[in-house]
Amino acid sequence: MNKIDFLDLGYQPLANNYLKLKNKNKKEKKYRLKVCFDTYTKLVSIKKIFSSKLMFNNQYPYRSSMSKTMIKSFKNLSFFIKKKFKPKKILEIGSNDGAFIKNFAKKQTIGIEPCSNVEKITKQKKFNTYPEYWSKKLSKKILNKNGKVDVIYSANTISHIKDLNEVFNAINLILKPNGVLIIEDPSLIECLKRNTYDQFYNEHIYVFSTLALENILKKYGLKIFRIEKLKIHGGSNRYFIKKKEGKKKIQKSVDIHKKEEVKFGINKIITYKKFSNRVKKSKKKLIEIFRTLKRQNKKIIGYGATAKSTTILNYCNIDTKCINYFLDTTSDKQNKFTPGTKIPIYKYVKLNKKEIDYVFLGAWNFKTEIFKKEKKFINQGGKFIIHTPYPKII
Ligand code: TYD
Repeated sequence: MNKIDFLDLGYQPLANNYLKLKNKNKKEKKYRLKVCFDTYTKLVSIKKIFSSKLMFNNQYPYRSSMSKTMIKSFKNLSFFIKKKFKPKKILEIGSNDGAFIKNFAKKQTIGIEPCSNVEKITKQKKFNTYPEYWSKKLSKKILNKNGKVDVIYSANTISHIKDLNEVFNAINLILKPNGVLIIEDPSLIECLKRNTYDQFYNEHIYVFSTLALENILKKYGLKIFRIEKLKIHGGSNRYFIKKKEGKKKIQKSVDIHKKEEVKFGINKIITYKKFSNRVKKSKKKLIEIFRTLKRQNKKIIGYGATAKSTTILNYCNIDTKCINYFLDTTSDKQNKFTPGTKIPIYKYVKLNKKEIDYVFLGAWNFKTEIFKKEKKFINQGGKFIIHTPYPKII
């Protein structure tokens, strides 16, 4: 056995399963959220894995375009790709509502998005999108129609797919020999450093480190040649990957990242056991903050009903006794209830200190953007509760 459990986040509902009023009192599907470390491949993954069809279907609520931070990040990357790689064809795995591909000409792009409710948004704008799961079969189909592609991009998607074998084999089929694969996902070292245990939930099957990803890619003749550290989603890595025969030079950033991870102990189980102890302490502290404020009769609401916050709320048993309601800009989440904890979610309105004392920041990964937006509330003395790197009021 190579896999060792190091974290137990208790019984959890499916993180994006926001409940309609009519289903609020029905029994929810729950699972035990445990996280394990593979001592052989160094890969960190959740233990119980659900089928993609259950999680990514025509009811998927997430929209990439909901945040200015993401829109800006995609725009900047598209400039870089055009300048550096001059692609004729670019394919995106997990194109969501088109926030990235819309930066390119329509005839230049191919989008893959199995959640047809979101895929429809880009198709209606006449982009070439497929409402299908990424697979060898789909890769062959696109190959026959369009030929090989120069660049493949995938943000926050590869870590959601169980069968990495299928993912990388399908990529190899359609990527040109000197093509570039760019993948972007939350970074394990940042998750461990910032105690963001809420990166673990049913959709995030893996949280990659450079060491683990390199081990996996090796099997498919793929090699990381550049890494960019991003602030996105509380710290992500953007990996630039080439085929073995590709001509790109391996840049210094790869070695720098690997050395940093080894120094941090990302390849040792003791690092994960220590993390698990910090998570237990984090839970205690967060509960204490809510209890103290509730004793003082403070009104607390939530900001950003994220999938991540499902993990926190259920792990720490935070429900309507602590948080009156959540505000969220995503229309598919509004007038529903948070999974498991059943806190109502309402349409976003600007925060007002006359009505609210404290705000639990579910979308902590967009803190800078949100604090800018809520300047008035902050100037009026409004406070936020945040759980990373440790629970505190700011
Ligand atoms: P996000 O952190 O991207 O993802 P996940 O669900 O994967 O954990 O979700 C951000 C959520 O926060 C999304 O539902 C939109 C919401 N949001 C707001 O309501 N207001 C804002 O200003 C921002 C940036 C996000």
